[in-house]
Amino acid sequence: MNILILGGGGREHALAWAILQNPKCDRLIVAPGNAGIEQIAECASFDICDGGAVVEFAEAEAIDFVVVGPEAPLAAGVADRLAEAGIPVFGPSAAAARLEASKRFTKEICDAAGAPTAAWARFDAAGPAKAYVRDQGAPIVVKADGLAAGKGVIVAMTEDEALAAIDEMFSGAFGAAGAEVVIEEFMEGEEASFFVLCDGETVLPVGTAQDHKRVGEGDTGPNTGGMGAYSPAPVMTPEVTERALERIVKPTMAEMARRGTPYKGVLYVGLMIEDGEPRLVEYNVRFGDPECQALMMRLGAQALDLLLAAAEGRLGARKVNWAEDFALTVVLATKGYPGDYPKGSVIGGLDGLPETSWEKVFHAGTTLVDGKVTATGGRVLNATARGRTLAEARERAYALAEAVDWPEGFFRRDIGWRALERKD
Ligand code: AMP
Ligand code: GLY
Repeated sequence: MNILILGGGGREHALAWAILQNPKCDRLIVAPGNAGIEQIAECASFDICDGGAVVEFAEAEAIDFVVVGPEAPLAAGVADRLAEAGIPVFGPSAAAARLEASKRFTKEICDAAGAPTAAWARFDAAGPAKAYVRDQGAPIVVKADGLAAGKGVIVAMTEDEALAAIDEMFSGAFGAAGAEVVIEEFMEGEEASFFVLCDGETVLPVGTAQDHKRVGEGDTGPNTGGMGAYSPAPVMTPEVTERALERIVKPTMAEMARRGTPYKGVLYVGLMIEDGEPRLVEYNVRFGDPECQALMMRLGAQALDLLLAAAEGRLGARKVNWAEDFALTVVLATKGYPGDYPKGSVIGGLDGLPETSWEKVFHAGTTLVDGKVTATGGRVLNATARGRTLAEARERAYALAEAVDWPEGFFRRDIGWRALERKD
């Protein structure tokens, strides 16, 4: 098969790495890719959010299957255009991608499906939103309705913070994404991510993970896209997983099908778990980044068969073959991230690092400049490893991270701490 992956981050490098292990893959192209992806696949350059351009490229290259990594092309209807052209695609339609693209839509679906989530209200003007906050009190959560590159959520510990967030959103700080605001009850508990594949009807769990969103050790400092992750998440016991599936995921998928917009692709189910009871924080319509890197290391070659089955409506006949293993990924970021950071530093020490089914450095924000791997993003590399225990996976991942020669970069040294300190 000729396969095209859309995206150019660590998630897409991990997807490419896993897909290439499957003998069904004859040729792999990634658009736009990055310096690491270039070492294992062909890279191409076109606007991946332009459905017409994607279809044209796929037809010209005789692509048999397209895997969409990030949410932006999905929200822009790229999967719809591919489906219309008869090209099999992994990823939901624009209508189904609203589960990530609109917070309000997700809350309405949860209400219709009876899925437990935070109490909420929506506003399209600052006055009533502020009155609601004053009435409810803090802590409280203020969210821009639309896609805001992960920055549209403010968990306000005080009323003043919430009021300021409302002003910021209605002043246009998030563009059209903030024209409508959802205000939610603050939920306590432990967060975990649950990944399920859906083919429009059948739901198949493909793993759990936890990420570290804060930039600093001990989960302190500003929020980032994720500084590291591990899989599985110990808080997702079989009971919690079953509850999340039966009470949240399956009713949501049934509601989407009932509305004539069945969900196909991977659903990232962000959960808050308190006393063994999961509630929905958010849905994303893609694999998490960096959670995907840990998941792909555990799934390996079977990932392609699973993605194909999801795209072709054949999930009912599939199961995931699990090894009793753990995976952990450490994000190496440019000093300064998530604030301003310089671009263009050269990364050394990558040649000669072990690359096995147990360990691999995935590239996220890199470009080849004059043959040298150069940092061009905030999150730049993902040192990822698997082990028979989480401690073993962590040891391997940190050995990789330490071997990278990049004075302009940094990484957290405590990825996985919560799971490793767990006593139960
Ligand atoms: P979201 O983009 O909706 O995932 O929100 C980003 C982060 O904000 C989540 O991962 C949570 O840590 C936090 N968050 C969002 N909604 C809530 C909520 N209702 N209660 C507590 N924390 C929340
Ligand atoms: N790591 C969080 C996300 O992918 O949204």
